[in-house]
Amino acid sequence: MIIHILPDADRLGALAARHIEVALLGVADPVLGVATGSSPEPVYEALTARATAGTFRVERLRAFALDEYVGLPEDHPERYRNVLLRAFADPLGVPADRVAVPGGAGADPSAAAAEYERAIQRAGGIDLQLLGIGRNGHIGFNEPGSDFRSATRVVELAPSTRAANARFFADIDEVPRHSISQGLGTIMRARAAVLIASGAEKAAAVAEALTGPVSTELPASVLQRHPRLSVYLDGDAAGLLDLSFLGSISVVHDWR
Ligand code: F6R
Repeated sequence: MIIHILPDADRLGALAARHIEVALLGVADPVLGVATGSSPEPVYEALTARATAGTFRVERLRAFALDEYVGLPEDHPERYRNVLLRAFADPLGVPADRVAVPGGAGADPSAAAAEYERAIQRAGGIDLQLLGIGRNGHIGFNEPGSDFRSATRVVELAPSTRAANARFFADIDEVPRHSISQGLGTIMRARAAVLIASGAEKAAAVAEALTGPVSTELPASVLQRHPRLSVYLDGDAAGLLDLSFLGSISVVHDWR
């Protein structure tokens, strides 16, 4: 694991975008796992700049979302398919049909989840998965207690997750109660993973995930077992990391 600590979210976005570009350079048909929420926004902005400059090539890129709300109408602006088209695919010039998102609006979300897992396998697996982290340590929508071997499935959102995501909706009652999420097993099968976090409200989850015990109570802690994990944090999100006890973890302060 390599942890990069940056002064702010913009610098974090710039370096994480460079990491993604370099990691996918030699891959003929790259498959990128994409996250939603606030954390990836600076990464997608920086990736867009790199695509515009011609260094990040998107012609053969395919993307798979981490998760999707269950039950939001197809035209709802907060449906993750729509969020990803707006924040990621359209700015980068990735055609919509090359962005896969679980089918949360259909009649049978469990069947859609199983089909999504198969679609990832048919694509040859995910080359690099971009991840944010919830304040309760979730990745994707794998809430505390999720099985480390879990596949894509329907999950119930924790009350704290619905409260955190209420900022995207007019009212907390509008936040869906369920989502389809890649499982922890699915995420761990990605050939590389990049975890990003900014802000002091993530500091406790980040410290627990990276240096605490590996436990299903803190789902992101499973990432300690990922063979190719890179972490990009701003100073606030890194605030509770005890850098003197990180053992074999490399820490890079990118303050330039
Ligand atoms: C989003 C996702 C979630 C978020 C997490 C952090 O697709 O899977 O795990 O990454 O809830 O959200 P933000 O970045 O909004 O703080």
